[in-house]
Amino acid sequence: MKKKTLYDLKNIKGKIALVRVDFNVPLENGKVKNNARILAALPTIEYLLKKDAKIVLFSHLGRIKSEEDKRSKSLKAVASEFAKISLHPITFIEKTRGLELEQAINNMENRSILMIENTRFEDVKNGEIVNYESKNDPKLGKYWASLGDFFVNDAFGTAHRSHASNVGIAKHINESVVGFLIEKEIKFLHDAISNPKRPFIALLGGAKVSDKINVIDALAKKADKVIIGTAMCYTFHLAMGKKIGKSLAEPEKIDLAKDLMNKYPHKLIIASDSICTPEYKDVKGKAYEDIPDNLMGLDIGPKTIKMIKKELKGAKTIIWNGPFGVTEFKNYQAGSKAIADELINLKDAITIIGGGDSAAMAIEMGIEDKISHISTGGGSSMEFLEGKELPGIAAINDK
Ligand code: 3PG
Repeated sequence: MKKKTLYDLKNIKGKIALVRVDFNVPLENGKVKNNARILAALPTIEYLLKKDAKIVLFSHLGRIKSEEDKRSKSLKAVASEFAKISLHPITFIEKTRGLELEQAINNMENRSILMIENTRFEDVKNGEIVNYESKNDPKLGKYWASLGDFFVNDAFGTAHRSHASNVGIAKHINESVVGFLIEKEIKFLHDAISNPKRPFIALLGGAKVSDKINVIDALAKKADKVIIGTAMCYTFHLAMGKKIGKSLAEPEKIDLAKDLMNKYPHKLIIASDSICTPEYKDVKGKAYEDIPDNLMGLDIGPKTIKMIKKELKGAKTIIWNGPFGVTEFKNYQAGSKAIADELINLKDAITIIGGGDSAAMAIEMGIEDKISHISTGGGSSMEFLEGKELPGIAAINDK
């Protein structure tokens, strides 16, 4: 990694570390539903505590478009979850700026942690959308930078954004480094695509082709096979002239799907059959190749599962992004479960699961310990795989 890392920091005892984490986690009834992103940030936080630093944590939570949004998107519940799982005391302050926050920071002891309120609360002031955080307002970045001695960016999930709390702070502070999570994410993703052990198979699921066109193209250049699953496959089915019934598709992307199939005729593999149902409901479905008008596909079918298993035999690098069915529904998990089973039984393979939904799925299936790397990034891992520079990392000091 050509960026400075935590090991480049010297004499940080008693210093104030401004640490950007991605604690944008799902909440349910005011409680954290999935704490994977919090757990993933702990190595950096623990390292800084061991070095006797004072830690000020910055994160966003959701998107803030109104004062109303602020009511359900405070980081308070996240701070409680952090204290519960890390066993480290944490002080939460319902402020993103001002005297009270500055005094709280001044009064911090070595080895203590303070979490400020959701950085995106800065996007709305008195009911008006100002986007100070999301548009990287230089005054805000400079102000936040003034609160500490050095900056640690460990928010991989937000690294594709150029916001005040990542790029802004980095630009206005003398010393900035990446944390252990970003280091680890980049190592796995970079090694997988730049020097993959072969065969290298990419599995791409999820709803929309439009979100993944560039990543399909980038991965098809590097992988030996790219397998497209539910629901993205239906746009490709339309391009092939197949019947898709009421399945989710993007007819306006048919030409793009055709282009991709023409460009990579031997690499691109499209799921063929689907488990279908009349409505978007968790009820038992039936397998079809051509889907009748009154049905929609919610999972890959047995023929596709068999084909994927065959392709995965002997694979040495696998990147999987996006579930292959509606995994929230018990009746439509079989396809993704079959792939997961195959993945965890591969010998000497590097297996990487990326994307918010896919990571949640892996945790739900209890396979997280058997996968080489589960990325905490959704959009950021996609952009990295596309070959784009991630501004949140680019802004950090070079070694
Ligand atoms: C994510 O969950 O993908 C990141 O936290 C970024 O969130 P955003 O898409 O709202 O910027």
